[in-house]
Amino acid sequence: MKHFLSTSDWSREDLDALLQSAAELKRNPINSRLKGRSIALLFLNPSMRTRTSFDLGMQQMGGIAIVLQPGKDAWGLEFDAGTVMDGDAEEHIAEAAGVLSRYCDLIGLRAFPSFVDWSKDREDNLIKSLAKYSSVPVINMETIVHPCQELAMMLALKERMGDVAKRKMVLTWTWHPRPLNTAVANSALLIGTKFGMDVTLLCPEPDYLLDSQFMDQARQNASDSSGTLQISHDIESAYSGADFVYAKSWGALPYYGRPEEEYELRKKYRHFIVDEEKMALTDNGLFSHCLPLRRNVKATDAVMDARYCLALDEAENRLHVQKALMMNLLGAEQ
Ligand code: CP
Repeated sequence: MKHFLSTSDWSREDLDALLQSAAELKRNPINSRLKGRSIALLFLNPSMRTRTSFDLGMQQMGGIAIVLQPGKDAWGLEFDAGTVMDGDAEEHIAEAAGVLSRYCDLIGLRAFPSFVDWSKDREDNLIKSLAKYSSVPVINMETIVHPCQELAMMLALKERMGDVAKRKMVLTWTWHPRPLNTAVANSALLIGTKFGMDVTLLCPEPDYLLDSQFMDQARQNASDSSGTLQISHDIESAYSGADFVYAKSWGALPYYGRPEEEYELRKKYRHFIVDEEKMALTDNGLFSHCLPLRRNVKATDAVMDARYCLALDEAENRLHVQKALMMNLLGAEQ
């Protein structure tokens, strides 16, 4: 059975087909191909775009979405095997996945890392546990990667650029008052390299490099796609000649679980904000961000309101790519 846990599990050809299907769904959004079908959406963390776009996407194809927030409006879940469940969780994922598989045709999960122990969080065990116990396809709605966001970003880029191969993409770290999940940064690195872009990872210092599993996979992707992957700590040369700037803030992994210490590191780097002066260094480059975004912290008002900002296109595309994905996983393609 095919799941959508990471784009690394999907071939470039299969991802291209999803993007083509999404473009067609963008032109013709309403159909009844998923009539009578359903998806359970499990949110362990907040969401606006993901929740709305999956729920609406299912409705636009004749299906329904059931939104559950374990620990709030549904029983809290235990994901570890063999645990004596005498803590807060009332239900094990084994039963929850089994029951939801009897009711629904798809299950989505958002489960951010715990921000305590990266050696544990980097294993992505919550989504893997769900996939293990589920008898229907599972969709990653953001864990330590955010593959739906990858598809939306790539569709937005292809809409403006056509072929993205050999175009310079800068994935820039930005300031934020606290250390955030690395998921979107990991994902941006994976999809840019998978599609043959010349990707520069710009971050203030080596402590902000991403986990080796994603750096290694991105290098492999670049090798397979004739793209490149470079690391830079220099703002001016990284932005110079860029076709696309993608911004995200994330926490320094060596300080994982120690936000006060990490703050001492990050507080020096407020100047990584994306502003017009930096964008002027690009080759009439495009800009995007996954949203939500703190204006004038991660990027200025002028950048967010510029014609070159794709953030709303990318957010809209979440709807179209996820519809294509649900159709694909259910064998209901056009
Ligand atoms: N980009 C994204 O996933 O948005 P939400 O957190 O609002 O779902």
